[in-house]
Amino acid sequence: MDAGFRTLDAEIAVDDLAVRGEVPRWLAGSLVRNGPARFEAGTRSFRHWFDGLAMLHRFGFADGAVSYRNRFLETPSYRSVRDTGKIAFGEFATDPCRSIFGRFFTRPKITPNANVNVLAAGDESWAITETPLAVEFDPRTLATVGLVDYRDSVPGEVTTAHPHRAPLTGDLVNYVLKFGPRSVYRLYRQRPGSRTREVLAELATDKPGYLHSFAITERHVVLVIFPLVVNPLSFLVRGKPFIENYRWRPDRGTRFVVFDLEDGSVVADARTDAFFAFHHINAYDAEGRVVVDISAYPDAGVVDALYLDRVRGDAELPLPFPVRYEVDLAGGGVRERRLAEEAFELPRISYLPHNGRDYRYAYGVGAHRNGRDDFFNQLVKLDVRSGRTRMWHEPGSYPGEPVFVAAPDARAEDDGVVLSVVLDAAAGRSGLLVLDASTFAELARADVPHAIPFGFHGQFTARQP
Ligand code: CO
Repeated sequence: MDAGFRTLDAEIAVDDLAVRGEVPRWLAGSLVRNGPARFEAGTRSFRHWFDGLAMLHRFGFADGAVSYRNRFLETPSYRSVRDTGKIAFGEFATDPCRSIFGRFFTRPKITPNANVNVLAAGDESWAITETPLAVEFDPRTLATVGLVDYRDSVPGEVTTAHPHRAPLTGDLVNYVLKFGPRSVYRLYRQRPGSRTREVLAELATDKPGYLHSFAITERHVVLVIFPLVVNPLSFLVRGKPFIENYRWRPDRGTRFVVFDLEDGSVVADARTDAFFAFHHINAYDAEGRVVVDISAYPDAGVVDALYLDRVRGDAELPLPFPVRYEVDLAGGGVRERRLAEEAFELPRISYLPHNGRDYRYAYGVGAHRNGRDDFFNQLVKLDVRSGRTRMWHEPGSYPGEPVFVAAPDARAEDDGVVLSVVLDAAAGRSGLLVLDASTFAELARADVPHAIPFGFHGQFTARQP
């Protein structure tokens, strides 16, 4: 399993991967995935899974064949490590080499190491992360084009790598957080194809939380603010890596702020008991309330558990479970209930038809028999209405985020396939797994000649006709 947290140096291109089984012939297009792939710089090591240098992996699908290529994202972060062996920018839990800036530059510049997700922005492909520095790349060759220049000024240091499409308009919605004596979350939207962000709403706060994603419905945006919070002065005075300035403050509870997507007004602001999450599963409007499904952890201990020395060792893996939160829009607070007793992380849905709307199926990674002594080692299909689950598990295999792709003639929500990069720990290499999304039966596996380090997120783009 450690191979999933080791550096991959090789950049290769293979036209025709060896395929076992049958890839459906209707599957035409590409899956581009993002994640860390280099964990050392000269004599130093990055400290956390989230710190590694971004590498893109592209799986191309045509006529039942699968191609593969991988390439580092050539950002200033990457070039500094490659050319000088120095870490030039502060990452999630690793500080830059001080010598580069001298002792007066104690505040790290924000990093362009966009290793979390990819985004189709109009005709362009962007690699994105939690700093508002997107990096454009060529979706065919994976060659880096350069930093995205937004044609606006929405200031800030932090964003999410999980922007949403507004279900009714197709606008891209996200937020940028600006640190200050009064920090401000600025929700914004981008019209399809535009590089201009229009501010939709602002929310001021004394101690901002660490939020990896947020929820959207047809009519609302929901910021779920977990009590992993920072006093922004800490960045200036403490000289610690980014996330180590945050403190777990369960006494504050977890706060649900519901914004009207049309006019930006706050229509509900409720607190519930403290919990933590990286990922929202989906959300939708219901009679008098907003339903928000989340892969929820009891606390923020998972952030610490993902330091490389712990995750490569024997430390226990905190498990998230799928939980439904219902926010009453008349001030009645938040109700919650667990959707299933199966660990559930890196959730995906049939996105465009069901994002922000009532839905039935979600796909995620889980832990076989909810074991905490290993890494995520199975795929889970969750029926959020019944709580029923189906699993794909193979001893010694570690599947990543399952990406759902609908069949062209899909009638049911789960007509299609699920794509996941699976590490075969014994063989020391990875493969691209294709499951029938309906039955969760394995249809095919395409073998990659090397081990792909565990990544975060990817997107499938259908081939243009
Ligand atoms: Co994520």
